Amino acid sequence: MSKLLVANWKMQLLTGEAETLARLIVQERSAHEVVLCPSFPALDAIGRVIKRSKIKLGGQDLFWEKRGPFTGQVSADQLKEAGCKYVLVGHSERRKLGEINALVNKKLVAAFSGGLLPILCVGEKNAKNASVEVKRQLRGAINGLRLRHREHFVVAYEPVWAIGQHPARLANVVKMHLFIRYLIKRGLPDIKLSQFRVIYGGGLAASDAKNFLAAAEIDGLLVGGASLTLRDFRPILRLRL
Ligand code: PGA
Repeated sequence: MSKLLVANWKMQLLTGEAETLARLIVQERSAHEVVLCPSFPALDAIGRVIKRSKIKLGGQDLFWEKRGPFTGQVSADQLKEAGCKYVLVGHSERRKLGEINALVNKKLVAAFSGGLLPILCVGEKNAKNASVEVKRQLRGAINGLRLRHREHFVVAYEPVWAIGQHPARLANVVKMHLFIRYLIKRGLPDIKLSQFRVIYGGGLAASDAKNFLAAAEIDGLLVGGASLTLRDFRPILRLRL
């Protein structure tokens, strides 16, 4: 069975380094659906490296306006033009810089209307408050959203305290994934189960990935640190379920 593996390279690699890594990842011919999310300046180069493979390209963020005087911003159309299929929306490292739920909502809407497949990131800062925080983020993000039949999206559950550290306990992640599915069905009553996937991210190493991917409730993984070298990422790319 194939799942979704998203590599979030954050601001960790220069373009040449990202190209070398992407070439090695292509050679792995993973059976999973792999998405690489490099920094904006590397999108074009990585797009060329993965062109003849099944690997997809993703942006790490987008702006909600289509075009105009918005210094430093990148639109959905520009990401599409650079070859992106996916885009991360509302990653906690952006929320930490002031991205509130209302802005995440605008970005989600912009991603859909620009023909991108958003990966909406949600996750609590405090493990004790998980369901309240995740519910608030999810509700805020999908507020007023109207999905067309063909449209799909991904929710990445990433507890903030797990990112760059250790993953949450699998049993708790499974519970949270079920809760997220319930919230989406409630918030978007017409949505079909096939229109969204729920993936996990935060502190994953290859050693944890197998058990996480094997869980039926987990449709894939969002991997930061462990996607930055082939040595760490290869065992994840090669996992058979
Ligand atoms: P991590 O990052 O795998 O290094 O914890 C995941 C993420 O922030 O998306």
